Amino acid sequence: MALGRHTPVMLDEVLAWLAPRPGGVYCDATVGHGGHAEHVLAQSAPDGRLVGLDRDEAALQAARDRLAPFGDRATLVHGAFSAARTILAACGALPCDGLLCDLGVSSPQLDAPERGFSFRAGGPLDMRMDRSRGETAAEALARLGPDELASVLRDYGEERYAGRIARVIHEAVARDEVHTTTELQALVAGAVPTRERHKDPATRTFQALRLLVNDELGELDQLLHDLPDLLKPGGRVVFIAFHSLEDRRVKLAFRGLAAKPDQRFRRLTFKAQRPSAAEVARNPRARSARLRAVERC
Ligand SMILES: C[S@@+](CC[C@H](N)C(=O)[O-])C[C@H]1O[C@@H](n2cnc3c(N)ncnc32)[C@H](O)[C@@H]1O
Repeated sequence: MALGRHTPVMLDEVLAWLAPRPGGVYCDATVGHGGHAEHVLAQSAPDGRLVGLDRDEAALQAARDRLAPFGDRATLVHGAFSAARTILAACGALPCDGLLCDLGVSSPQLDAPERGFSFRAGGPLDMRMDRSRGETAAEALARLGPDELASVLRDYGEERYAGRIARVIHEAVARDEVHTTTELQALVAGAVPTRERHKDPATRTFQALRLLVNDELGELDQLLHDLPDLLKPGGRVVFIAFHSLEDRRVKLAFRGLAAKPDQRFRRLTFKAQRPSAAEVARNPRARSARLRAVERC
């Protein structure tokens, strides 16, 4: 089920940094519902090309529908962006003039209870972006011992009550009492002694499990590592991150690329850009976005 659309985050800033132009070749590493991609294709008319990747077949179908008017200028591939180098080479799009990576999950993924990303409506503990492979969150919870689970919650969720939450979850899983997102949320809420403002007590646990199930940090590290091979001289890279674990990796990788003695990249942003107050008012899901951009010299 695909519910609604995803509003592209920081669209004006993405287009300003990526500066799509006719004849350019672009990669949208997280094409989602094609919100950014549609504008990249429009700005690079009449002959710019875009290769869009997504691990989620449902998102890709939505992108196919949205980008159909651009015909063969848009190529959509089901795959993870850790394989961008291979995929772009197979599409004849390597090296490219620009790459966008808008991390995380989309609104339709979050809003579909059956995907298991959200605790606002009960759904199965799935959380896989690519439902054709890999371990679900329920399977991960059944496999992990309490210490391993505590490490996951600490490392991927920055959860200060990781040990306590892990113990409670582990015991409930052993008693076969946790099957849905709302059951997990209630369990975590009961285990956490304090409350953060504007944050559900289960937010960190859900973030940690999602990152684990989708190996999100491993995916990000691989893409960041491959950047020098993906871009033409003058090619630009834009990343949008939604939490500090990801943004820190992007920041350090960009800083490292710009500091290399061969000076193959220069930073276009020195501090992360944030969405305007007007955008956050229009689209509250943009509020934690942080955008960074670099250019291949
Ligand atoms: C925030 S949404 C992108 C929305 C898109 N920019 C738009 O405007 O419609 C992120 C998308 O990236 C996909 N995704 C996340 N990690 C991925 C990865 N490692 N490889 C490929 N796709 C990924 C998700 O499935 C999701 O559809």
